[in-house]
Amino acid sequence: MSVVSYEIKNTVGIIRLNNPPVNALSYALREGIIDALDTAQSDESKALVIYCEGRTFIAGADITEFGQPPKEPTTAMVVSAIENSSKPVIAAIHGTALGGGFEVALACHYRCALSTAKVGLPEVKLGLLPGAGGTQRAPRLAGVEAALELITTGNPITASKALDLNLVDRVVDGDLLSAATAYAQELIDSNAELKRVGDITIDPASAPAELFEKWRKTIAKRTRGQISPQHIISCVEAAVHLPLVEGLAKERKYFTECVQSEQSTAMRHMFFSERLSAKVKDLPKDSSVRDIKTVGVIGGGTMGGGIAMNFANVGIPVKILEISDEALQRGLDLVRKNYQITVSKGKLSQEGMEQCLSLISGTTSYNDLAGLDLIIEAVFESIDLKKEVFAKLDEVCKPGAILATNTSYQDVNIIAEATKRPEDVIGMHFFSPANVMKLLEVVRCEKTSDEVINTTMKLAKTINKIPALARVCYGFIGNRMFRNYISETQRCLIGGSSPEQIDSVMHAWGMAMGPLSVNDLSGIDISYTARKTQTAEQKGEPASYCIPDALVEMGRMGQKTGAGYYRYDRETRAKTSDPVTMQLVEDLAEKHQITRRPISDQEISDRLIFALVNEGANLLSEGIAQRPSDIDVVFAYGYAFPVFRGGPMHYADTVGLKKVYESICEYRDRYGEDIWKPAPLLEQLAREGKTFKEWGEEQE
Ligand code: 3HC
Ligand code: NAI
Repeated sequence: MSVVSYEIKNTVGIIRLNNPPVNALSYALREGIIDALDTAQSDESKALVIYCEGRTFIAGADITEFGQPPKEPTTAMVVSAIENSSKPVIAAIHGTALGGGFEVALACHYRCALSTAKVGLPEVKLGLLPGAGGTQRAPRLAGVEAALELITTGNPITASKALDLNLVDRVVDGDLLSAATAYAQELIDSNAELKRVGDITIDPASAPAELFEKWRKTIAKRTRGQISPQHIISCVEAAVHLPLVEGLAKERKYFTECVQSEQSTAMRHMFFSERLSAKVKDLPKDSSVRDIKTVGVIGGGTMGGGIAMNFANVGIPVKILEISDEALQRGLDLVRKNYQITVSKGKLSQEGMEQCLSLISGTTSYNDLAGLDLIIEAVFESIDLKKEVFAKLDEVCKPGAILATNTSYQDVNIIAEATKRPEDVIGMHFFSPANVMKLLEVVRCEKTSDEVINTTMKLAKTINKIPALARVCYGFIGNRMFRNYISETQRCLIGGSSPEQIDSVMHAWGMAMGPLSVNDLSGIDISYTARKTQTAEQKGEPASYCIPDALVEMGRMGQKTGAGYYRYDRETRAKTSDPVTMQLVEDLAEKHQITRRPISDQEISDRLIFALVNEGANLLSEGIAQRPSDIDVVFAYGYAFPVFRGGPMHYADTVGLKKVYESICEYRDRYGEDIWKPAPLLEQLAREGKTFKEWGEEQE
C-alpha cells in the first residue's frame, strides 16, 4: 500500500500520509508528498490539506536515514514545494508534529491542530538543529525569544500554547479531517491569501545582538559541551538579518555539520537504545501482562517516598508501610516536601500536588497490603531484614501480586527464596532521587516468571521510566560498573592526582560533577558503612578505599559535615580546596608504599571511563546485561553520563576497541592483573576489529 494517497473531496485536495508507526518522513513519504503536490497544482482542487493516518502527524525526519547519503527529494525540498504551492496548503495536526514534521507544517500556509496535539522542534535532543527551515520559520511566526526557547530546549508545546505563539492558526476538537476540510473551504470561500511564512520579515530592533549574546551564554551553561545549541542561536540570528534563502543555506550548513558529528551519532544511538532496552530478548511475543492498579511501598525513607511519588504522579494509588507512626509521618512529610519543591519551581500546580498526595496513604500494618497488585520493598539494605519482609509479604499478599525489591546490592534470588512464590519476585532498582531519575533497572531472578518480567518492563513506561533489564549479580549493571569508576578515581588520587584535577577533568569530559564532589554531596559515610559488611573481595584492595575511610574517621563525611575531600562554607556551600586532604593523601600513599607521580588529564579520563567499559564487557559475556546499548541507557539515565558521549560502550566504540584494549593492557602491566584484567570479550572484539555495536547486533 502506498504511504501517500491523494483524493479530491468537493474542491479540497487531501494529501493523506500513512507511514506507521509515527509517519516519519522517509524517502517514500517525501517522494509521495512531492508527487501529490505536483498533481494538485493542475487539477480542480482549490486548496490542499495534509492529513496523517494513525496516531500522529509526521513525527520528524526518519532518523534511521541519518548517516546515509541523502536521497532526493530531501525534506528541505518537500518543505519548499509546499510553501511555493500555488494553492493554499493546510496542515491538519494531531498527535505530535515534531522536527521535520513541524517544519512541513510551518511551510504550509495555514495550520490547524487538534487541542490534544503537541508541536515542537526536538532536533537538539539528537545533537542536531532543525534542518528544513525550522530555525527560519519559527522565529518569523513566534518571535525570536519564543523560537529560541522552543528550539534550544527541544521540548514540545501544546496546541493552545502554539496558538498563543502564532505557530498554529486554529485549534479544533472532534474529527480533525472534517475540521481541516471545513477550514480549507472557508479559506477558499474568502479567497484567503497564500500566507507564506518565509515572506515575513523580523524587525531587527526586536532582537538586538545583546539578546543573542545573552542566549549564547545561558545555553553554553545549560547544554555544556554540546555544539548544536550554539549553531541554533546563529541560525535564528540569521533569520533576523538574512532573506529566507540565505538563512536556509546557513541552516543547511550547520545541519550538515551536526548530522556528521560524533555528538549527534551518540545522541541518535541513545534515542534508539532507549527504545530497545524496553524489549526483552527471550520473552515469548504472547507473554501476558498483569494489571497493576494499586501499589504498596515498604519503607518510606529516601527511596520509598520517591518511588511512591512515581505511581501517584500517574494516578495509581500507593500505600506506604513503615515501622512506626512516627517513621510513617516522617516519610509522608518528606513526600509532601518534595512535591512542594516541584510546585515552587512552577512544574506542578497546587491542585496537582493535592491530587497526587490524595493518592498516597500510609499504614503500619501488613494486613493493609493484602489486596495490592504490586509491593516494592525499600527498607534498609540488609539481607536478613529483606528476607524477613518478603516472608511477611508472602503470608499476607494476594496470589498474583508482584513482590519487588529496590535493593542496590543484595542477592534477589535469596530474597525470592524467602517466599513460596519466587516466580512473582523481581528487582525494581530505582535511582536517587527516585521521583526524578529516569532509569529503572529491572532485575530478573532465576525463577521470575515471563509475565512478571513483562509486566514490570511495561510498568516502567507507565510511570515514565526507562527500563533496563539485568540479571542478578553484586551491584547489577550500574552499581557493579560504577564501583570500578570510583575505585579507579581513588587509585588516581592516591597515585599522584588531586581531587581538583580529577573533578575538573571529569567535569570537562561531560560529567555533571566530578566523582569526588559527588561523593562529598552524597556523603562519604554511605560507602564507608557499606564496607563494614563487605567481604575483603567485595571491598577490593585498600588503596581503592583507604582515603574515604580515613576522611570519615576524621569526621569529614562531605558537605553535610562541612568537609570531605573539600571544605564547604556552611551557609553558601561554596567549595574550597583543603590542604588537609592532600596531606592525608600523601601520608596514605606513603603508608601503602605508592610512589606518587604526575598523572595527565587524558590518563585520568581514560582510566575512569575504560574501567567502566571493561566491566561492561564482562557483564555482557556473563549475560547480566542484555546488550551493550542497555548499558549505555543505564549510565545515561541512572548516572547522568553525558548523552553526547552516548554511554560508555558507545564511547568505547568511537575511541576504537583496539585502543581501549591496549590501554587496559598497559594499566595491567603497570598495576597488576588483580586490578586491571582485560575483559575477554573486549580482547576478542579488539582482535576481530569489531565494535560493541556490531557484536550487539549479531546477538539480537
Ligand atoms: N524516525 C525513525 N523512527 C522513529 C522516529 C523517527 N523520527 N520516531 C519514532 N520512531 C520509531 C521508534 O524508534 C519506535 O520504533 P520501535 O517500535 O521499533 O522501537 C517507534 O517509532 C515508536 O516510537 P516510540 O516508542 O518513541 O513511540 P511513542 O508513542 O512513545 O512516541 C514520538 C512517539 C513522540 C513521536 C517519539 O517517537 C519521538 O519523540 N520521536 C522522535 C521525534 C524526533 O526527534 N523528531 C525529529 C527528528 S530529526 C528531524 O526531523 C530533522 C529535520 O529537522 C530535518
Ligand atoms: P532509608 O534509610 O532512607 O529508608 C529506609 C526506610 O525503611 C526507613 O524509613 C525505615 O524506617 C524503613 N524501614 C526499616 N525497616 C522497616 C520494616 N521492617 N518495615 C517497614 N519499614 C522499614 O534508606 P533508602 O536510602 O531509602 O534505601 C532503601 C533501599 O533502597 C535500600 O535497599 C537501598 O540499598 C536501596 N537504594 C538506595 C538508594 C539511595 O541512593 N539511597 C538508591 C537505590 C536503591
